Amino acid sequence: MKLARLLYASRLNPETDPNQLARIHETANTRNAKHNVSGILIFGNDQFLQLLEGAPTDINKLYLNISRDPRNFDHLLLDYSEISERQFEAWAMKLVLITPKQQAQLKQFQPQEDFEPLKMNAEIALKFCSFLRDRNSLAG
Ligand SMILES: Cc1cc2nc3c(=O)[nH]c(=O)nc-3n(C[C@H](O)[C@H](O)[C@H](O)COP(=O)(O)O)c2cc1C
Repeated sequence: MKLARLLYASRLNPETDPNQLARIHETANTRNAKHNVSGILIFGNDQFLQLLEGAPTDINKLYLNISRDPRNFDHLLLDYSEISERQFEAWAMKLVLITPKQQAQLKQFQPQEDFEPLKMNAEIALKFCSFLRDRNSLAG
């Protein structure tokens, strides 16, 4: 089966109730598990960075859905690639909130910048996702 990975950045709609983050995560976990989609959603400084992997048709439909979701806007597609295997198969959707600790860890990859996915280089963004995956799987 063909597999694709999509990476994008977007901005939280300031009118969105902060509780919506938990709702989004819940929906993502349930729906992604059904559609065999895996990935990570990182949130900080009012911006999202999300990596989705799965069948290309599922990933494309989902990105279309998310880009129409009024809870976020300013979508920027950072990367879309065909992949040979999943790297985030353990998670239907892992939510990571950027804390000062993660912010400091990101400095290894981009010393000058804060977490601002809309300005992020795609390669660095991918490396940061993998770094968080490794950290979180080590943490159990
Ligand atoms: C930043 C963000 C990330 C989201 N990630 C996912 C996701 O990974 N999977 C998912 O099914 N929905 C996700 N959603 C929710 C979708 O936009 C949409 O509400 C959901 O897929 C339900 O679509 P439906 O109303 O057409 O059933 C996300 C929404 C936002 C704002």
